[in-house]
Amino acid sequence: MQSSSGLVVVVGTGGTIAGTAARAESHVGYTAGALGADALIAAVPALQGQALQTLTLARLDSRDMDHATWMALRACLAEQLARPEVAGVVVTHGTDTLEESAYFLHRTLAAPKPVVLTAAMRPATAPSPDGPQNLLDAVTLARTPGVRGVLALLGGQVLAGAELRKLHGYRVEAFGTGDAGPLALIEDGALRCFRPWPEAPLHPADPAGTPVDSWPVVDIVTSHAGVRGATLDALVAAGAAGVVIAGTGNGSVHHALRDAAVRAQAAGVRVWRASRCLQGGVVGGAVDAPAGELPSYGSLTPVQARIELLLDLLAAA
Ligand code: SIN
Repeated sequence: MQSSSGLVVVVGTGGTIAGTAARAESHVGYTAGALGADALIAAVPALQGQALQTLTLARLDSRDMDHATWMALRACLAEQLARPEVAGVVVTHGTDTLEESAYFLHRTLAAPKPVVLTAAMRPATAPSPDGPQNLLDAVTLARTPGVRGVLALLGGQVLAGAELRKLHGYRVEAFGTGDAGPLALIEDGALRCFRPWPEAPLHPADPAGTPVDSWPVVDIVTSHAGVRGATLDALVAAGAAGVVIAGTGNGSVHHALRDAAVRAQAAGVRVWRASRCLQGGVVGGAVDAPAGELPSYGSLTPVQARIELLLDLLAAA
């Protein structure tokens, strides 16, 4: 596939990809988000002289990601995508909440051009960092004609933002897309496609109508051996408007939590279930589950389901 010479904008938000460690050999003791987007570009010789612009939106360790930064990122991306000279946008981000930002953007941003999220498991100062190759591949993808949608580029794999899951806490090969598999690979700068680019949601959700500090609270509680229903009761007492239960197996829920879910529903709180398993989701579940069953959003992970429930509550507000 031919690459055009279109402009790519690289938006930095922080993460290990922009992390620096005092000891170069350390892969864990570092400060995430220390470097701006321009420093990341400067470290990749193959990107020098390319049509690139950089913008550092945040320098977050993505464990501290929040709704206000999501909205700032969404607005920034919408503005960049609207520029006719921009072929696509790359977002550098921490790996820890990458799947949440990717899902939020997939659901709320019209992306007729590529929005490519990338990240790294090793800091920029590591002897063999994974960030520079990911960044190079992400820019290549963002500049490729015909590509669209919210995507992630990690380890040469092009993954749909809506399907992304972090599967490992340390290894460089940390991401997958459950049963779906990659959309494409980038091999030595060449794109090999397996599946069509993701269809944008017909009507992207627009959470901008409600100020972020008035967004409904949606929490997650995990079902596990010995779980206390009081945990869910406490979330409701603390103001949760929605709760996702990360259930066991195929989204099954401990009876103590089930009883608490019934109490929560009676108080007007929306309770959904998902699966805490790393792969798969809830087979046979439905959002419009009959009375007495907890609704589920099928293949969505608990953190994705939390975003979906949040958007649902915002739309109903
Ligand atoms: C982060 O998520 O910002 C830190 C961890 C990482 O990027 O791997």
